Parts: sequence; structure tokens; C-alpha cells
Amino acid sequence: MDAGVMDGPTVTIDLAALRHNLAVLRARLQPGVRLLAAVKADAYGHGAAITAPALERSGADAFGVATPAEAFALRTAGVSAPILLFGPIDRHIAALVEADVALTVPDARALAAIEAAAPATRARVHLKVDTGMGRLGIEAETAAPLARAVERSKHATLDAIWTHLACADEADADADDGLTARQLTRFEAALASVRAQGIDVPCAHAANSAATLRLPRAHFDLVRPGLAVYGHHATPGAAALVPSDLPALRPVATLRAPVTFVKRVARGDSVSYGATWRAPRDTVVATVRLGYADGYPRAAGNRGEAVVHGLRVPVVGRVCMDQLMLDVGELQGSVRPGDAATLLGPDGPSAAALAEAVGTVSYEVLTHLNAPRLARAYADDADAAG
Ligand SMILES: Cc1ncc(COP(=O)(O)O)c(C=O)c1O
Repeated sequence: MDAGVMDGPTVTIDLAALRHNLAVLRARLQPGVRLLAAVKADAYGHGAAITAPALERSGADAFGVATPAEAFALRTAGVSAPILLFGPIDRHIAALVEADVALTVPDARALAAIEAAAPATRARVHLKVDTGMGRLGIEAETAAPLARAVERSKHATLDAIWTHLACADEADADADDGLTARQLTRFEAALASVRAQGIDVPCAHAANSAATLRLPRAHFDLVRPGLAVYGHHATPGAAALVPSDLPALRPVATLRAPVTFVKRVARGDSVSYGATWRAPRDTVVATVRLGYADGYPRAAGNRGEAVVHGLRVPVVGRVCMDQLMLDVGELQGSVRPGDAATLLGPDGPSAAALAEAVGTVSYEVLTHLNAPRLARAYADDADAAG
């Protein structure tokens, strides 16, 4: 990619990579299994207003969001595919139903809120079963009475029953007696108990990215990948667990920032707040216009890496609000102000590597990519340039 002069830090979103990842995920599925792309948190920081329509054009069947505002924003962006709101809500129900957004019902209270809102048309309901995530949902044993109550409601239609896996990106998912296997067994039992009542369950879903890639048993009628759509695994450990026959996912986002200043630093000189880094030899340090106010983790000080002129170089000293420093001594004096440093992306560190360096998961690193000061560019899509 072009590493020319830049004004400021920029996230470039590669829509061809997005399409590639969608195809890799789709290839894991049996015919007829649908794919819902999780585009919550502004498409994991990638910009939902552009990525969701691009995914829809490439055949994503549905979208998942976390808040009503995210659902309405997708409709404003022109998305016409089904949308599921993952969290339960008791406000905006009539407007969400009017926008044809399916609602999660994890208990009788959520159903009562729909009844009270009395939307003009029936709410599409995805009944949520807690099989072991411990976050949201009805106990598997009591799914059938709630499904019956949805079925009887004048204001709701049962569109699906779903659950969420806690450990699909861990070795647990391969164990016969692990939490993932127990969650799936509970989910299958909940589905069977509802169907045994003669209640039609048009769709069941459970799989996030890791389960889509690794666990065919979890695919049911629809899968809900997010992270993999954007080309990532949660951690380097999770990446190591994906099947060896899987074509590599391509990171969709590249974070680049310009070098603004280059200076010689003598052995023993310190760099940045707290003087936490001292030059181990005479070297050259490049200052880069990217800081924690741009979404780059402060914890990456003395831990993160960048790629400059194709070479991996360390972040030295603490990351500041607007700037960070790189030891570019290995680059033989070739670095100039205006050169680009790649902090994340296919030609730079992976989100999983940065996340591991700072003690988090790639989800958190990526969701910071929509920091307001970052410029955003979309590549490889005629409809979405800019
Ligand atoms: C309910 C639900 N489904 C699917 C996903 C997608 O998960 P992943 O990004 O791991 O694929 C998420 C994200 O955390 C989620 O909360």
C-alpha cells in the first residue's frame, strides 16, 4: 500500500479484505445456513455506515447490533437486510419494530415491554437462552413456557431462539466435557423442549466467529461472526486454534500515522514522560503523530511495534496523548518527517499481537479505531470511496 506523505493518523478500510473474510466464513457453512455479521460498536471500529452496506452487497444475510441507535443508523445507511438487536430493551420498541429490527427477549419482562409498547406490527422476537455465558437469557429449562408466551402474544412472533458461547475461542471448545459442549447440549435440549410443545422455531443460532470457524455443531440455521469478518482473532492463542485448512483471514483495517520529527539520541538519553526508556546505544528516534487520544493504547509504551519502510521497530517510552516515539536506529538514517508508520494492519502488527502486548483482546484494540481524530479512508470499492 502507498506509504506517501500523510496529514495525520488514518485508518484505511479495505473492502476487498472484508469480502474475502466473508467468503472464508461462508465456505465453512453448509448450504442454507445464513450469516449475520455483527456490526455493533460501529462495526468494531471499522465504520458501520460503509462496511454494513458493503457486506450486504457481498451477501451477508443479516446484521447484529448492540443498541437501538446502531440499528437505526444501519437503516439510515440503506441496509435493508434483517437486523437483530442483541441486547434487551424497554424503550424505542415501536420505532424499532417499525424499522423491522428483531428484538431479543431474554425473559418475561422483556416480552411484557413489547406488549406494553403494542407496536403497529408484530415484533420479531429472538428468544435468548443462557446456556452458560451467564450474561443474558432465560434458563434452558424454562425456555418452553417463554416461547409459548411469545407465541400467544398479539404483539410478537417467534423468529428464532439463540444463545451465546463463552469459550468458543479457547481450547475448551475442542473438549467433549468443556463448557462449550455443555452449552451446546443445553441449547439443543432447550430447542427440543420448545419444539416438543408443537411450537415452530424457524431459526436457531449460537455461533460467534470462533464457533463459525471451528465448531460445525454450533452452526444451526445462522451464524453470527463479528471479529473474523474484520480479519482478526481475539488473541494469538485463539489464532493458533483455527483449523489449518482455513484460508488466512485478511485484516480489514490499517492504522497509519505520519512521522513528524526525527532526531539523534545518544546512548543513555531518555524518551517521553517518566523517562521509562533510555537509549541502549546511540540511535535515531522518530516521533509519530498518534497518541492515546487517537485510540492507540497508552499501555503500548515500550511494548508496541510499528512498521516503517517495511521494517518492524519498537515503540519506545510512554505513548503520549497525541504522539509516540519509535526507535528507528535500524533504518540507517532513512526515516524522514512525512514517512508513514504502520501501527496496525496486514503490513504491520496484528490486532491480536498489539492486544497481547497490552494485556487485552483484539476486540478492544479495534473498537478504538473510530476515535474521532482518526481520518478514515475506504479502499477498493467504487461506491464508497473517500
Ligand atoms: C451476541 C453476540 N453475537 C455475536 C457476536 C460476535 O462475536 P465475535 O466477534 O467473537 O464473532 C457478539 C460479539 O461479542 C455478540 O455479543
